Amino acid sequence: MKSFSPSETELRNVLIPQNRLQERVSELGQEISQAFDGKDLAIVAILKGSFVFAADLLRAVKIQCSIDFMGISSYAGQPGSGVVRITKDLDESIAGRNVLLVEDIIDTGLTANYLLQALKQRKPASIDICALLDKAARRLIDLPIPYRGFEIPDVFVVGYGMDYQQLYRNLPHIAVLRFNNEQNATRDANGSDQAGDKSVS
Ligand code: IMP
Ligand code: MG
Repeated sequence: MKSFSPSETELRNVLIPQNRLQERVSELGQEISQAFDGKDLAIVAILKGSFVFAADLLRAVKIQCSIDFMGISSYAGQPGSGVVRITKDLDESIAGRNVLLVEDIIDTGLTANYLLQALKQRKPASIDICALLDKAARRLIDLPIPYRGFEIPDVFVVGYGMDYQQLYRNLPHIAVLRFNNEQNATRDANGSDQAGDKSVS
């Protein structure tokens, strides 16, 4: 893990409090339970960011389903390409099953799109995305997200499983992280300071 001094980053406001997360996850669970009732549902959670969301979502889904995990990390040399390295593959086959790809956040959409295309080659019966957060303003690719928790402004967020340099995953809510130094400021460009003061209802 890279080290950084605490002064480089600063936790700002709570964007989504714990009770709103719980309410929305429970609604998503109901929607998914209805949509996949009577079908063979295979939940696929993308590690690490989605593990907290996936654990809560799984318990909000009231129909029979399985869960499997895929670990990915982006190639250091190709930021923004969407090409990822699979660090842990699925344990079970998804052929012929109805897959729900669970992601923490869709930003440009390149990562989710890459995974979608890669998993389609394994011949699932269907494959849909469920994302807790959607930074729609940053999207570079058209990507349907039938199950979406919240649309958020273009700010860098942490908590509820999401990290900055592997930290802050343990926050029970979603908070805005502000970068104080120039180098990291590019990661939350486009007026995030102002946006960081907004909250999501
Ligand atoms: P995309 O390929 O641009 O859609 O970005 C995908 C991945 O970048 C997400 O799955 C996250 O792991 C990470 N990411 C994007 N925005 C944030 C953020 O605000 N906080 C933490 N991780 C983020
Ligand atoms: Mg992710």
